[in-house]
Amino acid sequence: MENKQKKIILTGDRPTGRLHLGHYVGSLKRRVELQNSGEFDEIYILIADDQALTDNADNPQKIRDNIINVVLDYLSVGIDPAKSTICVQSALPALHGLTFYYMNLVTTARLSRNPTVKAEIQMRGFADEGLPAGFFAYPVSQAADITAFDATLVPVGEDQLPMIEQTREIVEKFNKIYGETLVLPKAMIPENETQRRLPGVDGKAKMSKSLGNCIYLSDDPKTVASQVKKKMFTDPTHLRIEDPGHTEGNVVFTYLDALCTDDHFKEYLPEYSCLEELKAHYRRGGLGDGTCKKFLINVLEETLSPIRAERAKWAADIDSVYDILLAGTAKAVEKTNATLSRVRKAMAIDYFDDRRIVKEWENILKN
Ligand code: TRP
Repeated sequence: MENKQKKIILTGDRPTGRLHLGHYVGSLKRRVELQNSGEFDEIYILIADDQALTDNADNPQKIRDNIINVVLDYLSVGIDPAKSTICVQSALPALHGLTFYYMNLVTTARLSRNPTVKAEIQMRGFADEGLPAGFFAYPVSQAADITAFDATLVPVGEDQLPMIEQTREIVEKFNKIYGETLVLPKAMIPENETQRRLPGVDGKAKMSKSLGNCIYLSDDPKTVASQVKKKMFTDPTHLRIEDPGHTEGNVVFTYLDALCTDDHFKEYLPEYSCLEELKAHYRRGGLGDGTCKKFLINVLEETLSPIRAERAKWAADIDSVYDILLAGTAKAVEKTNATLSRVRKAMAIDYFDDRRIVKEWENILKN
């Protein structure tokens, strides 16, 4: 297999809304680091609009509108189109072909056990309303995404691990039946636990648009500050400044765990050298929530203001953004078509690649 030695990254997002800080610390930041490491031969980032349609069939306009939001978020955090190929899923017909064949290698029982899909079914009310077959089977289409690019590494949030696991099972099954054809991918999730699962500003398990507990990468400074000041509960037992406080489960400290560095202290809170010192003071008592929140707002602004500036630059030149997407998608069409050809050959359904089958059929008829 030609690409066996290549190191290839594929990752992606559903274009259902603007990307938020949870996406940034859980995935985007790492993508940019991997991109700039120079260690990878090819990097693809997929805007998974087909996957987004599996639970938004009645609202294609929402998906269409959010493609631009997601691309702008990518470009503004430092995804560089010269190094990473950004492409749109629905324009890659090979993915549909692969999905169709992989469906035969997965049982409905196996699909029912995918914990992420199970949770999503609950969240979306599909358990009562009826479950769209396309949504139920989207892990198969995600396996097509990953394998179509010959991805060796898939950097994702923790909730995506079951998808990579299912992809690996499909790859192993495919290769066993049809011969060594597909590349076996590995998942990569953030090392830091708080980065893996940044809670919403209200402390709820996850940032989610419907809960209104997000900080979006494109939020203005006033919105960010107000989310911190108004929505972040700290420690209910820390009533007066002099009371001892808890840092565990205190969302201000969770965010600081995920984002702040010692340099942030030098710049904005030089009375402390590091987060451990700040936490120790908070636990001892004598440190107010206001001071911690103000520091967090500064840390957030240091993270978000360059992203915001970059976003504004690209937003003023949507023609160029379109061209980036067009060129990236054209490159991805080639890449994924090549994989589909390989797959069809392995499955012996490559009838029209050449006329060899004429001889085969003639021989069958002779015998
Ligand atoms: N399921 C991913 C999400 O919900 C998006 C996605 C689609 C993806 N295809 C992918 C992620 C391939 C990684 C690799 O965020």
